[in-house]
Amino acid sequence: MAAAIQTEQLSKTYSVGFPVRKKVLALQGLDLKVEEGEIYGLLGPNGAGKSTTIKLTLNLIRPTSGSVKVFGLDPSEPKARAQIGFLPENPAPYEYLTGVEFVTLAAQLVGVPSGELKSRVSEVVEKVGMGTAAALQIRRYSKGMIQRISLAQALVGRPKLLILDEPTSGLDVLGRQLIRDVIVEERKKGTAVLFCSHIIPDVEALCDRVALVIGGKNIRTGTVSSLIESDSNQVELVIDGAVAALDEKLRPHVKQLDRLSERVVVRCEESATNTVLKVLLEANARVVKLQRTKFTLEELFIKAVKESGQAVGSSMS
Ligand SMILES: Nc1ncnc2c1ncn2[C@@H]1O[C@H](COP(=O)(O)OP(=O)(O)OP(=O)(O)O)[C@@H](O)[C@H]1O
Ligand SMILES: [Mg+2]
Repeated sequence: MAAAIQTEQLSKTYSVGFPVRKKVLALQGLDLKVEEGEIYGLLGPNGAGKSTTIKLTLNLIRPTSGSVKVFGLDPSEPKARAQIGFLPENPAPYEYLTGVEFVTLAAQLVGVPSGELKSRVSEVVEKVGMGTAAALQIRRYSKGMIQRISLAQALVGRPKLLILDEPTSGLDVLGRQLIRDVIVEERKKGTAVLFCSHIIPDVEALCDRVALVIGGKNIRTGTVSSLIESDSNQVELVIDGAVAALDEKLRPHVKQLDRLSERVVVRCEESATNTVLKVLLEANARVVKLQRTKFTLEELFIKAVKESGQAVGSSMS
């Protein structure tokens, strides 16, 4: 069975500036595979190429090289796009339509049969918590309400692939929870979800797999736990009743040392564990805890961004 999204060596270069054209290497050989029925997170700093990947998947722009397929089809084929529900980064629905009119228009465009229009529209409007507010013109909406009605628009065609670009931006806590619930419910139905976000706890809580994209390249891919574990090569030791003189002996071998009165917590590379233990045993110190440290996804993200030396944007030439 074809993957919901598969990209191979996907690259996109934008040309900017006049008269001297500079090239922005937004994507540089990105390989991704989003399987049917999984929640896939795209995580990356500002300008990493996340929205560019989404636009290529939707055929809003064409690749410079490489390919992207949606359920095995080129996204230029209407059949491919008809299976996608999309919530853009900055939704801009028609302001003079009411919420209901806007979602109805989206439903008609995606081919919902006329007999089902009313029930389908009210189903998704209720789902995003817009109830009575859906009768108002969109120009009267708050940012969060625009986000919600745009999500309803994405869901109304019962897509097999849901693409959400920063879905929780501008939402209150209830709105964020609602988005999470909708994503989980969609996955239960077998919908694949490509979910792009800066809010790491949301990614951590929801995604089956995550791709870390930096500077237009896929730096790491895996389940959240495998990503965290693959990077946990440090060990934490807790020592009780250690005398202050011990600190100087430990410092050359550890990365971090925190003294909390008589209790000392040290972090060292896994390879230095035996050396640190030797120093402690020779000093008759009492080791009360020794464990491998787990990175959080946030720590991993910060570390990967620092290592890449590319905090914001992509390379130019
Ligand atoms: N239309 C465009 N013309 C020129 N450069 C562009 C264009 N769109 C995006 N870029 C550049 O491509 C790179 C990737 O942008 P993109 O919008 O894909 O990033 P992103 O990962 O979605 O970032 P953010 O998290 O801020 O939304 C950036 O360096 C951006 O400046
Ligand atoms: Mg973006």
